Amino acid sequence: MAIIASNFKTNHTRKSTADFINNVNDFLNTNSISEDVYVFPTATSLDTFATVSNLTLGAQNAYATANGSFTGEIGTEQLDEFGIKTILIGHSERRHVLNESQEEIAKKFSFYSELGYKVIYCIGEPLEVKEQGLEQTLEYIYEQFVGIDTNYENLILAYEPVWAIGTGVTATNEDIKSVHSAIKARIAKPLLYGGSVKVANVREICSLDGVDGALIGTASWKVEDFKQIIENTK
Ligand code: G3P
Repeated sequence: MAIIASNFKTNHTRKSTADFINNVNDFLNTNSISEDVYVFPTATSLDTFATVSNLTLGAQNAYATANGSFTGEIGTEQLDEFGIKTILIGHSERRHVLNESQEEIAKKFSFYSELGYKVIYCIGEPLEVKEQGLEQTLEYIYEQFVGIDTNYENLILAYEPVWAIGTGVTATNEDIKSVHSAIKARIAKPLLYGGSVKVANVREICSLDGVDGALIGTASWKVEDFKQIIENTK
């Protein structure tokens, strides 16, 4: 059974998010689909469908706090209101666009893991590191586990090479297999692949050794495509 997750990033309104979720929920119900499906909408839409039954909603980000003076952030007091118990941590855009340090990421991880949240923890190397070869790539990735309790029971990992995110350039099967098998040898947790996963390639990617599912951005934002992606991994 694959784990399929959609990361909306900064896309969709409350209305279109609610329509999307209801549509996917109906699809999962009527087709008795047992894949583990997650959707990470924007924070402004987390309350629009707190009661859906067949998929799990998660936060793309939140601060390591219950509440307090952290302008622009949300904490567990707000997540609790909507019954959200799943969070993405370490996403490439948080690391490289929003400049979150490994220290901040590890702090967030400790905070949310102590509260029992399901954490989808993202790792992945930029192009200049990939070009140096597998050894350097793995070294870079292992640095992204500093301060992270990889034995945490509610942990799912997602390998998302930075150069494959939103570029249309998917990692090759060989790239995926070599990185996944190395990570899996160290950390016995479900491991998703992310980075230009599409309707056309999701089946093949999810069938590779060491791949337990996919974390998808662009190709998951149209509901018909997302349903097809789920269908293709059955
Ligand atoms: O979190 C999902 C992601 O970063 C991959 O994005 O657009 O390449 O599927 P995309």
